Amino acid sequence: MQMAETWITDELATLREAGLERALTPYDRTGVEVASEGQSLLNFSSNDYLGLARHSRVQAAAIGAINRFGAGATASRLVTGTLTCHQALESRIAALKGYPAALVFGSGYAANVGIISALVGRGDHVFIDRLAHASLVDAAVLSRASVHRFHHNDTAHVSRLCRGCSGSGKRLIVTESVFSMDGDLAPVPALAVVAEAEGAMMLVDEAHATGVFGPGGAGLIRSAGVESKVNLSMGTLSKALGGSGGFVACSGEMRTWFIHKARSFIYSTALPPAMAGAALGALDVLRDNPGMGAELLARAAHFRSRLRDLGLNTGPSESQIIPIMVGDNTRAVRLHRRLREQGILAIAIRPPTVPRGTARLRLSVRLDHPVAMLNEVADRIAAAARAEGVIS
Ligand SMILES: Cc1ncc(COP(=O)(O)O)c(C=O)c1O
Repeated sequence: MQMAETWITDELATLREAGLERALTPYDRTGVEVASEGQSLLNFSSNDYLGLARHSRVQAAAIGAINRFGAGATASRLVTGTLTCHQALESRIAALKGYPAALVFGSGYAANVGIISALVGRGDHVFIDRLAHASLVDAAVLSRASVHRFHHNDTAHVSRLCRGCSGSGKRLIVTESVFSMDGDLAPVPALAVVAEAEGAMMLVDEAHATGVFGPGGAGLIRSAGVESKVNLSMGTLSKALGGSGGFVACSGEMRTWFIHKARSFIYSTALPPAMAGAALGALDVLRDNPGMGAELLARAAHFRSRLRDLGLNTGPSESQIIPIMVGDNTRAVRLHRRLREQGILAIAIRPPTVPRGTARLRLSVRLDHPVAMLNEVADRIAAAARAEGVIS
């Protein structure tokens, strides 16, 4: 190591002492049962909620797109990277979400960075939920607008903050609809009322709602019928849809604006054809099986109530994302390891991904988790939590 890098050794030691060391674990099998270092593990940590990443129709659609268009899009969208599969996907997303138009990006992270910094800049204001995903926070900071964090799901607080900044620049309210680490839901209709009353723009990140909540997996904006009040319905192709990529559904004018101004859209190679194909395949599966989301949520409700009955703290979860609140970083990692030894993969999530003192296991229910498996895993989690002193 060069002298100039020695500070990294010190910083890493500090992270280790705080129980915040991170490492990459390779898996050589994916799905409901993953494999790592020869060990088979029941997967309670993926975002592939509907199991579509390994669905035969989704995989066939991805392969079909590769055969037709090649491995990569070969250029950015404004050069020669716009393929007919991108156009088809954008039409399907717009129709699902109930918006006039949609635009796809290379990832959900890129979508958030691109759209927020295209909409606001110096002198403008972003009001963002305190627990919003890092990609939204980074996007707000990168935009150079003033960033105001509002108390989690506190509509009155947003309203106050928004009013305090009226008459000075554009204003954008930002939230997730299903929070990625707590699994609770935002009061989307009430926030939309605030946005409308204040004349502010509103962006809802539906990364974890898409494919799960709302009619045919359309998300919470659509199930609340507030499309006309929420300017931007953002989402990803990388969670319940089982692929990779991000998108925003919006007005045609807004889409045109992004084509001109969203830097992560303009200066990046277009979404690979395979991922556009996979997403189209996943949307076909959802269209033909519109009850998938509801079934997943029913299963998650069963698992959550079983965990709660066993004395575990599942936080405010109302979705397929169910945290097991632990608090201490090291204890959360120990709980994860103990479960791993028993063949259960439940990753510990620590700061800065979640606020300090709220380390947890983030469990996610998949449609391919049978009820009997959920019951057994709940019992094992409770026993492990007891052994680690998380519950008495
Ligand atoms: C709420 C939310 N928004 C955006 C993203 C980013 O999406 P992607 O993984 O497609 O970049 C994530 C991913 O974890 C997320 O949880």
